[in-house]
Amino acid sequence: MPTKSELTQQLGVVAGFDDPRVDLEQYRTPPELAAHLVHTADLQGDIAGRVVVDLGCGTGMLALSAALRGPKTVVGVDIDPDPLATARENERKVASTSRVSWVRADATQAPLCPTESTTVVMNPPFGAQSGNEHADRAFLETTADIADVSYSIHNADSADFIEAFADDHDATVTHAFEATFELPHSFEFHTEERRSIDVEVFRIEW
Ligand SMILES: C[S@@+](CC[C@H](N)C(=O)[O-])C[C@H]1O[C@@H](n2cnc3c(N)ncnc32)[C@H](O)[C@@H]1O
Repeated sequence: MPTKSELTQQLGVVAGFDDPRVDLEQYRTPPELAAHLVHTADLQGDIAGRVVVDLGCGTGMLALSAALRGPKTVVGVDIDPDPLATARENERKVASTSRVSWVRADATQAPLCPTESTTVVMNPPFGAQSGNEHADRAFLETTADIADVSYSIHNADSADFIEAFADDHDATVTHAFEATFELPHSFEFHTEERRSIDVEVFRIEW
């Protein structure tokens, strides 16, 4: 299995969105954060040999990161077919031994019904910029339905919301960490050339 730094390097070839849609909050998770999230999950026994689902997979960064760590199977779900086409190309470039099933579906409408223990990894839309605060809630609802453990990226200061959501679903937040990354100028509302985003990552047992 690749080390965390080898994983980061391998993910460097994963292309982002050709024509990102603001309404779907389409940006690529940086390879460093994707590798860190999946490496952490793998150390917890949540990737190798398991079913892994990436909700809102975009061009495949998190799904492909998991595919490089020996899962049983990986499914990437996105509502937009264009990034899914890029995800297929990215899969060829990454050349992981595990295949990924790319599914076009609305992740908020319970698109899957896995029969085995499932790990969800996701970087869902936050809704913070569009005034649609906690757009990630609907992704968490699907996660609660299909996962027994999940790793999800949320905007900074989400801890109270995540803890309350977990409580309401008899789930437990077991780990959390913060990260900061740079987004290229791709959305119209970004006035700077690059912009720093503070996020929080949570592991939840459902
Ligand atoms: C922040 S991007 C993350 C992309 C990718 N997971 C990554 O980590 O690079 C959010 C993704 O969620 C997708 N998305 C937004 N709403 C969705 C929905 N209702 N169902 C499925 N995917 C959705 C977008 O198309 C976009 O690819």
